[in-house]
Amino acid sequence: MIITGDITELRAVRWADRSLSWGLVPTMGFLHQGHLSLVAAAKDANDRVGASIFVNPMQFAPTEDLATYPRDLDRDFQLLRDAGVDLLFVPDNESIYPPGFQTTVSVADISRPLEGSTRPTHFQGVTTVVAKLFNIFQPDRAYFGQKDAQQTAVLRRMVVDLNFNLRMVICPTVREKDGLAMSSRNAYLSAEAREAAPVLYRALSAAAAAVELGERDGDKLRRMITKLIAAQPLSQIDYVSIADALTLQEADQIAGELLLSTAVYFGKTRLIDNIPLSVSSAAG
Ligand code: PAJ
Repeated sequence: MIITGDITELRAVRWADRSLSWGLVPTMGFLHQGHLSLVAAAKDANDRVGASIFVNPMQFAPTEDLATYPRDLDRDFQLLRDAGVDLLFVPDNESIYPPGFQTTVSVADISRPLEGSTRPTHFQGVTTVVAKLFNIFQPDRAYFGQKDAQQTAVLRRMVVDLNFNLRMVICPTVREKDGLAMSSRNAYLSAEAREAAPVLYRALSAAAAAVELGERDGDKLRRMITKLIAAQPLSQIDYVSIADALTLQEADQIAGELLLSTAVYFGKTRLIDNIPLSVSSAAG
């Protein structure tokens, strides 16, 4: 595995043989099985796999956890080497944001609800850095996790709107045995909060099961999820949403492609989870 923070060197490796296809897995490091599932998917479909580790300051608000975001580069290098990554990009802040930097990419409407309502500058940071990574790597395919559902929706929109010549591949959420979605931020949870945290997936799954049984009332489903999560004394709900999967507009009546999602604080740690649902309008 070639590890570099140098964009010129990276491009030389990437373009050494133009006949090879490349998959790219962007990350912020502190890797877990969720990240590695993206690498595995990229290995399956491409001749070569590139990954990046960059804790992107632009997507953190001043009040957020940039300084304490968990890091373990040596362990990450070993995991990516073992997973068969060919080229790893680990830039410093200066190479991504050179002095005088003033160009950003933002996706308007779908960046605003859900995560965007609590984190209004977050997605501009994500779209700017991912646009840069796409320009730097020029991958044939780029791999992202369903875990961050709104991020995937925003990035898909960006790829269409700005004509990035690549295919977006979205991989399913990898979970712990008790259902908790794997996340680098799970490392922050106290023992008590870690025990309580699987309630997110349990609550979303209960609502998904109710939809399967014919429930079509958005408000009822939101109330059901809220009640289940609020029953955990350590939880503080940020949002519970049942929205159109494409536009992220809240749904009154359940039909079509939907996203059930929630964000919940356990102490200072904010966790997100979601379940995508496809509901045929004929049923129910
Ligand atoms: P990060 O949180 O490190 O996640 C990197 C990728 O791994 C994202 O596409 C995310 O959705 C995916 N991922 C995280 N947990 C997962 C899980 N449990 N199952 C499946 N996939 C999972 O997301 C980011 O970094 C950044 O915003 C980034 C896109 C790198 C831009 O800075």
